[in-house]
Amino acid sequence: MADPLLSIRDLRVEYRSGFGPGRRVVRAVDGVSLTIARGETLAVVGESGSGKTTVSRSIFGLTPVRAGRVLLDGLDITRPNRFGRQELSRRVQMVFQDPYTALDPRMTVHDSVAEPLVIAGEYRRDEVIRMLDLVGIGGLAGRRPAALSGGQRQRVVIARALIRRPDLVVLDEPVSALDVSVRAQVLDLIARLQDELGLSYLFVSHDLAVVRHVSDRVAIMQHGRIVEQGGTAEVFDAPKEEYTARLLAAAPTPDPRDRTWLHPVEHVMESADRGI
Ligand SMILES: Nc1ncnc2c1ncn2[C@@H]1O[C@H](COP(=O)(O)OP(=O)(O)O)[C@@H](O)[C@H]1O
Ligand SMILES: [Mg+2]
Repeated sequence: MADPLLSIRDLRVEYRSGFGPGRRVVRAVDGVSLTIARGETLAVVGESGSGKTTVSRSIFGLTPVRAGRVLLDGLDITRPNRFGRQELSRRVQMVFQDPYTALDPRMTVHDSVAEPLVIAGEYRRDEVIRMLDLVGIGGLAGRRPAALSGGQRQRVVIARALIRRPDLVVLDEPVSALDVSVRAQVLDLIARLQDELGLSYLFVSHDLAVVRHVSDRVAIMQHGRIVEQGGTAEVFDAPKEEYTARLLAAAPTPDPRDRTWLHPVEHVMESADRGI
């Protein structure tokens, strides 16, 4: 069988803070193993502080890994050197929650999206224009972030992440900071880009409704460990672990066939009618 695109094996990450007797060790990730196949979306779900962001940052060699390994296409990337980092930045990209701090306020949309190509010495104007069209912001190339909505900014961030055609994109709460009214559009875009570009996703979220909508498989995290993982439908319909069942009960997810929750326009209009 072919190697999975990404394989994390028994990963342990510890943060240390302070010195002497006041010194503290936080075991943020405590023995996590997961794989992502080509073209697949794995969602990592869990409450705040469960270790989701630490797992995703470990793929970029950005955390203090105590034990375990991270493999990309079978290649060990746990502690990348300078050359390894350059190769990694082409093959793996990250989209964070907050599109407001992710962009340089002085740069135009075109320049922000072009920058990774320019740095790599691979700039091609037609490629930048094609990417802007692909993410639906072809008309905004000359604007700066201050003149964009949250949804438009996140489209710029996504275009910038995809411009060098990575294999894997880590999306850490990519729609959590957006207005509810634009979340569905950005999620639909993320799904369409996956099909068109053959991307694999690691999708980090605390929002179970979103996860059910986007992921093939899901890993449920608690206190730095994966308590359950499996096909999204199986885990949601028949959770094996008590903790998963409680998480699902605490955030009842709507019927997957009912997409009105993703398009809460009626609610907005009702509120407007009532002058709210
Ligand atoms: N840079 C850091 N230094 C110290 N502790 C950290 C750091 N980043 C995260 N942590 C701790 O590690 C744990 C997991 O955090 P994180 O991975 O951000 O969880 P999540 O993304 O699920 O909210 C938390 O207890 C958090 O306080
Ligand atoms: Mg996080």
